[in-house]
Amino acid sequence: MLLDLHLPDRSGHEVLESIRADPATRLLPVVMLTGMATVSEKMRAQSEGVTDFIPKPFSQEELLPRVRALVMLKLFADEHEHAEHVILTLAKTIDARDPYTAGHSGRVAEYADRIATRMGLDAAARSDMRRGALFHDLGKIVIPDAVLRKPGALNAEERKIIEEHPVVGYDLLLPMKTMRKTLPVVYHHHERLDGSGYPEGIADHAIPMTVRIVTIADIFDALTTDRAYRGALSVATAFEMLTEGVQKGWWDKDGIALLREVIDDGGLSASAGPHDGARV
Ligand SMILES: [Fe+2]
Ligand SMILES: [Fe+2]
Repeated sequence: MLLDLHLPDRSGHEVLESIRADPATRLLPVVMLTGMATVSEKMRAQSEGVTDFIPKPFSQEELLPRVRALVMLKLFADEHEHAEHVILTLAKTIDARDPYTAGHSGRVAEYADRIATRMGLDAAARSDMRRGALFHDLGKIVIPDAVLRKPGALNAEERKIIEEHPVVGYDLLLPMKTMRKTLPVVYHHHERLDGSGYPEGIADHAIPMTVRIVTIADIFDALTTDRAYRGALSVATAFEMLTEGVQKGWWDKDGIALLREVIDDGGLSASAGPHDGARV
């Protein structure tokens, strides 16, 4: 978009703000045409997310190559968005493969985000964590239904198959540059602080806070929703089990205290609340 700063009925700043606020246009390159723009007007436009400035009057030779370059950039951005959308749909489909886990990843992302907000994590860390939470069980795509939906206890071989899912998810997302920051959550969401988890058995500070938070959210949602092998447990029982896990040295104590606050505050909205959900 080529946008003039001074328009008859509203300012270019207002138009730019609404473009950036709308998910459908937030990645649209916007070039501001400036005639008499002051430095402060330009700085404001920059903070609002302008892509480039072109001073007026401009020549065709100057304008065309810049517009062409930005159109290319937009095409790349669209491709990335599309790829991410495909993966998200895939992740939801995997949740829905087992009627018990429908909506699981979305709720995990929601719980994790609320814990992280209370912990004071910044917006960038939270957004990477959220995406990691949405894709955390992507690797379940390779687990056969007979194992994923087995009503009874798993034998050692079946357990081994289940425990491959963080590695499979990691391998699937690894080639995508935009997914780099979500990889730790996907790969490590079954680790424990005492090093008894999988796949790496890393411990303590080697497990990033965002990963610890998603782990707690994942377990809580699994406990409080119906599963192929048992009914949903009460919130009280879930917290008893989480607290036992803290005592065994498995999970982050502070994260669980903050989850308690989130639940006492009403938890997720009714539509997203725990009501259905498989194994974490
Ligand atoms: Fe998992
Ligand atoms: Fe999970």
